Order: sequence, then structure tokens, then C-alpha cells
Amino acid sequence: MPIQIGSITLKSRVYVPPMAGVTDLVFRDIVRQVDPNCLLSTEMVSSRALMNRPECRIMDLSVTEHPIGIQLFGHEPDVMAAAAQMAEKKGADFVDINMGCPVPKITKGKDGCALMKEPDLAREIISTVKSAINIPLTVKFRLGWDDSSRNAVEFGEMVEGAGASAVTVHGRTRQQLYSGKADWSFISKVKAALSIPVFGNGDVFEPEDAIRLLEITGCDGVAVARGTLGNPWLIPRITRYIDEGILTPAPDDVDRLILAYLHCVWLTRYKGPRIGSNESRRHMTHYTKGMTGAAPFRARLTQITCAQDAADILAELSELVGGKEGRERFLANVENDNQKNGVEPSKWHRQREERLHSPVDLGTLAPVAVP
Ligand SMILES: Cc1cc2nc3c(=O)[nH]c(=O)nc-3n(C[C@H](O)[C@H](O)[C@H](O)COP(=O)(O)O)c2cc1C
Repeated sequence: MPIQIGSITLKSRVYVPPMAGVTDLVFRDIVRQVDPNCLLSTEMVSSRALMNRPECRIMDLSVTEHPIGIQLFGHEPDVMAAAAQMAEKKGADFVDINMGCPVPKITKGKDGCALMKEPDLAREIISTVKSAINIPLTVKFRLGWDDSSRNAVEFGEMVEGAGASAVTVHGRTRQQLYSGKADWSFISKVKAALSIPVFGNGDVFEPEDAIRLLEITGCDGVAVARGTLGNPWLIPRITRYIDEGILTPAPDDVDRLILAYLHCVWLTRYKGPRIGSNESRRHMTHYTKGMTGAAPFRARLTQITCAQDAADILAELSELVGGKEGRERFLANVENDNQKNGVEPSKWHRQREERLHSPVDLGTLAPVAVP
């Protein structure tokens, strides 16, 4: 049975949930190129900040990335409703409300996971947002605030009763942040109590983990966040394993380095050379994780100031992990991308400015190898 989120019928059971500083338009476009059907979400957006800056670029969506949700955080029902209407206008397929973020900066202001301690306010937010929009509403939360207040089951029942069409449950408490292990058996209690679809979330890093999570929790779908960092291929590998029982191999190191470069260059085109290369440093740390001998290269990658720096370092690393053939394959992909899209940074910057107020179509970029 396909998962149904309100009026949306999903073709996949896999969801790449919001990650602030990660699931921007470029990252999502990469995931979409390797997996046509998974569910996607933007990074979280502050509903309050949107009131002052309605043209917030976090809500830019490209035409290729549906089905996609825009995630909002905040605790003022009317502000959240106004922000949700803006998300609907931007073309989101659904609005997700963040009731799970554990970061003190967020919870201090009664946002994110703090709302698990205020179920009445959470209910009011959900029902006010629900009545303001025509697209489905979903909620993402944790097991509870701490071990002595694991209220995910009652909270989930409230969320469903207030009008949500699906939920994502991360199997940790707020107090745990990311420590310990996600408690999948507790997620199964939430799943058993609800009629709307439940995405189980936490600690899926391999296709086998996804199957185990689905078996243990009985969830309808699985949400995979950190496992996709530097490894978007995890999503199609999970999808294939769930749908066909086939475990495809992970891409080789040179393929990962090629994508590391393309990720960097696409970020510089979209966000400009300075911000793009800055932001790509952390992605390249993930793409090179676990590669033998990569540590000194990783250190250099954290200093890059333009895409060419990345190309030079990654070409050397390609030779280390893939020999002469690896280096040639890497350089051929760099050259291929340059020919397709040009190498003149000022041109990219102009293109970016032109895109600021229109939906971005990154579909013209070179395709990413699918395993
Ligand atoms: C860098 C980072 C940023 C995140 N940002 C958000 C966010 O904006 N909204 C949200 O609901 N969860 C956010 N999360 C939590 C993830 O969506 C997910 O619930 C969590 O990482 C557990 O799943 P995983 O074990 O598959 O990583 C973030 C996680 C990470 C690592």
C-alpha cells in the first residue's frame, strides 16, 4: 500500500527529512538526481523571521524536486499559519512543523522540542495552521523531553487529532540530543497508536538498518538524515532494497570525489563563490570520510576558497584512492561539467542573482552517477 499524506500518494517509503545547513536546494537536487521518488524537505524556516523577510531563500523550490515539504518552526499560532500560507504559495506539497529540534537556541524560545512540554499550545498551532492551508500538514517530533517524560504516544495522538496527515518520530529524547542509540521499539508504540502514516527516524546508515527499522517499528516509512551526508546514494540503495530486496553496492571512492566536486561547484554557482565554497567544506568532509589516507586532504579541503581549490585537492586524492585511472576519471568529469556550464565565476554569480526571485531549475546540470 503506498503511503498517503492527505491527498499526496507517495511512490517511495523513504524520506530525507530537514537538516539545517544541509538540505538546501543544491543538496536536494543531488538527492533527486539519484532517487526520483523519495520524499524531501527544506531546512527549517523560522516563521517569525519570515514575517520580516518574506523572500527567504530557504523556501526556494525547484520544479524537479516534488514531492517536497517546507518545514516551519515557531510557537505563535497566527504567525505559523501566515508562514504556512507563504509555504503553500511557494509550491510546497505539504508543510511540516518542527516539534523536535533540541538545540537550546530554539527550545529556549518555546520552539522545536519545547512544544512537547506544551501539548495544548502545540495543538493550537497545528489546528490553526491546518485551517489556514489547503495542503497537508505533518509534524516531526522526538520521544519526549527527557527519559522521565517520554510522551511521544500521547503527543502523537494529539497531533493526529489536531489534523496532521503524517508524522516523523526521531527515536531520541530532547535531553539525548544525538547521544546513545535511537529507541526504535518506542517508535513502534507511536506507530501502533496512530492511524496516519508514521516515518520512523534515527540511526539509519545502511540499507539493512532501514529494513530493520521498518520491521521493528512497523512504520510506514523511514526518514534518513545523517546517513545521506556525503552519501546521497544511500537513498536509492535503501529504496531498491525495500522494493526489490536487492542490495546494490555503494559507489567507489572516485565516484564520491567526483560528486564532492560537483556539490562544491553547484553550491558556488547557486550561492556565490564565497558562501558556496565555505559551505561546501563541510560536505567535502563527509564525502571523504572513511577513505584511506584522506585525513591530510580533508584538512586542506577545510581551507578552500573556490571550486578550483577543491578540484586540485580532489584530483590528487582521486589518484591516491584510484590510481592514474582514478585521477583521469575525476578530471574528465570536471572538464565535462566545465564545458556544459562554463568556468567563469562572474557568470555564475549573475545567474544566481537572476534566480533569486524565481524558482530555480538546476535540471541543466550534469547528471550524477546512479549506482
Ligand atoms: C545537521 C543537522 C541539521 C538538522 N536540522 C533539522 C531541522 O532543521 N529540522 C528538523 O526537524 N530536524 C533536523 N535535524 C534532525 C534530523 O532531521 C533527524 O531527525 C536526526 O538527524 C536523526 O536522524 P538520523 O539518525 O537519520 O540522522 C537535523 C540533523 C542534523 C544532523
